[in-house]
Amino acid sequence: MTVVTHSTSAAGTGSRVHRGRRLRRSPALRALVRETRLDPAMLVAPLFVRPGDGVREEIGSMPGQHRLSVDLLGSHAEALVSAGIRSVLLFGLPEGKDADGSGAWAEDGIVQQAAREIRRAVGDDLAIVADVCLCEYTSHGHCGVLDGTAIDNDTTLPLLARAALSLADAGADVVAPSAMMDGQVAAIRSALDDEGHAETAILAYAAKHASAFYGPFREAADSAPAFGDRRAYQMDAANGREAMAEIRADIDEGADMVMVKPALLALDIIAAARQATELPIAAYQVSGEYAAICAAAERGWLDRRAAALESLTAIARAGAGVIVTYFALEAAGWLREQSR
Ligand code: PBG
Repeated sequence: MTVVTHSTSAAGTGSRVHRGRRLRRSPALRALVRETRLDPAMLVAPLFVRPGDGVREEIGSMPGQHRLSVDLLGSHAEALVSAGIRSVLLFGLPEGKDADGSGAWAEDGIVQQAAREIRRAVGDDLAIVADVCLCEYTSHGHCGVLDGTAIDNDTTLPLLARAALSLADAGADVVAPSAMMDGQVAAIRSALDDEGHAETAILAYAAKHASAFYGPFREAADSAPAFGDRRAYQMDAANGREAMAEIRADIDEGADMVMVKPALLALDIIAAARQATELPIAAYQVSGEYAAICAAAERGWLDRRAAALESLTAIARAGAGVIVTYFALEAAGWLREQSR
């Protein structure tokens, strides 16, 4: 152990200098006074589900992530549970797409099948969160239905509600509307309540910026818009006050948890959200945040493990109690090693 030498000019004269280093001297002292701790139980693992049998297809833009066919989900879910992960967020690549995105509410839709299979495999050990959006299911790749080239808010709402109902029927514990349509939380809440799903929770993607960092996801989920972009419905990344208004609106509409996304790019909003509500705050470390760390690590420019854990710690420190991250399974392993 290194010995700290006291400077006589400070210590000897009796003056009280701030010596922050006293509590940084050893791993034990640092662990003792650490303010933020990550726990695998706070991490949500996103999963991409695709048709087929025995298919485990690597996602090019997201090294280490795979699209899995339904039959492989059971063993993957078991691996997550043994690592200490308690929740998954499901995305689907349907067999076919149409203008309305009807695959989003098909009784035997890809995510509906996935939810049933995960429940069969691990029972209640995993909380099943299902993303509710149309972009993976529409032929044009937008998050709502079209009116010309515009995305029509109010005709999209009943479709999102229908998707949420169908996912609740398939056993989702939580539905997570991410389409950024105004009124989507209220529409989903009332549909769930009317149809006997009063217990199904809503995780609202409340403050979701239009972001360049969703790029790798759109390859993963085959959900890139065929024309234009999402700026007419997702928020302008320059706006923090507006993010708070979105969060308040979703809470008023009945959200049980609110999410901020992307995470590292909106730490200020996570912190403000933590102050503004007692509800659980979730943050989504999105595909581009993951891919950036992976790419730099592959080149030897960043230490993958250290960079991933530091970024997750920063997101937690800002105030997120729930973190959606593609590092979930890996991070759970690192955290277990650390605690030994
Ligand atoms: C669906 C949705 C997207 C993401 C989560 N839900 C894509 C988008 O808005 O374009 C992005 C997640 C990620 O980048 O990891 N609307």
